[in-house]
Amino acid sequence: MKKEALAQEYAHFAEEIQAAVARVLASGRYILASEVEAFEAEAAAYLGVRYAIGCNSGTDALLLSLLACEIGPGDEVITSPFSFFATAATISRVGATPVFADIDPRTFNLDPARVAELITSRTRAIIPVHLFGQAADMTEFRRLADEHGLLLIEDAAQAFAARWAGQPVGTFGDLAAFSFYPTKNLGACGDAGLVTTNHPELARRVRILRQQGVDGLRYHHELMGINSRLDELQAAILRVKLPHLADLNAKRHLVAAIYDAGLAAVAGVCPPYVHPQATHIYHQYTIRTPYRDELRRFLADCGVETDVYYPVLLPDQPAYRNARYPFRTGPLPEARRATREVLSLPISPYLPHDQAEMVAERIKTFLTTRNGAVPLVAPNGKQESALSVAKS
Ligand SMILES: Cc1ncc(COP(=O)(O)O)c(C=O)c1O
Repeated sequence: MKKEALAQEYAHFAEEIQAAVARVLASGRYILASEVEAFEAEAAAYLGVRYAIGCNSGTDALLLSLLACEIGPGDEVITSPFSFFATAATISRVGATPVFADIDPRTFNLDPARVAELITSRTRAIIPVHLFGQAADMTEFRRLADEHGLLLIEDAAQAFAARWAGQPVGTFGDLAAFSFYPTKNLGACGDAGLVTTNHPELARRVRILRQQGVDGLRYHHELMGINSRLDELQAAILRVKLPHLADLNAKRHLVAAIYDAGLAAVAGVCPPYVHPQATHIYHQYTIRTPYRDELRRFLADCGVETDVYYPVLLPDQPAYRNARYPFRTGPLPEARRATREVLSLPISPYLPHDQAEMVAERIKTFLTTRNGAVPLVAPNGKQESALSVAKS
């Protein structure tokens, strides 16, 4: 969600959010107190998981999960090369080696068959990402993890309330990490994250690790932890939004359905494919087209802001040129192709439906005209994209 949509969401919940913020400020308790406890209980009940532990961000939720499993130097963790940087960076941060497997070109999610090919005696864990808000194939990942005695950690940062085979994501893995960065479908007004698990001992360890490894006794540090506390203000704001999440997600679905209908029969563009076992919460509505860059320029000329998630594969990031952060990859043709073809269209619960219709119509015009090599003129009169389209 862009800042306009975030402001709209705030306006929608302003009274409740202000009351929640005032309540926290007046309480004098700002870190890890009753709001956090209540949010953790409510989020756990919402997802149907035994333990939910609040922390400072989705990045820290991944880091705490890895630390709780004592994954470190000498260990390999297989994950997606087509994700946000934190998915791999946290693996490197604990001293382990990320191993990148290719994605399923239909869903953009990590492909279990490609993961299976990369498992070695050093593999400790698999981290699938529920990318763009669509659940990854948790049946296969659970089976693979069980068969090889591996830990399964879900990167659910983009997918709160998405489901696989009717079951919410964040309940399949040994641990799962959620992000409440403001642009997420359940967004705080600052950084916030959550770890979920059904294992009492892992839950205990995450709880301790988020507070410098302190277990009850002050200044007694049982584990080598970090400072990753969730603050009361963010928890109180998340508690306002959580009961409305189903409605907010349903509104995203309506926008997605307009795009789906508008793009269904258009040659040269592929609307998101949703696996029959998965639900998609449309954190992003991501199409693919071989004419991505031209289309993006054309839409920009029409005043439509789009985005590319992700233009660079994780192993190609400059940070991985540093020999201190080794990695391994399988062949990545699909992930690489995705970096060239994906385009995320505007989506939020508040996007007016006529705007979504207009965007789909513009894409259709662009692609039908491009394929017929007829010069296009953007509505603001600019011909630049039209000419480059006709020439290429
Ligand atoms: C797939 C994925 N993993 C992890 C993160 C990290 O979450 P945060 O920004 O809350 O640290 C994000 C955030 O964008 C994400 O998209």
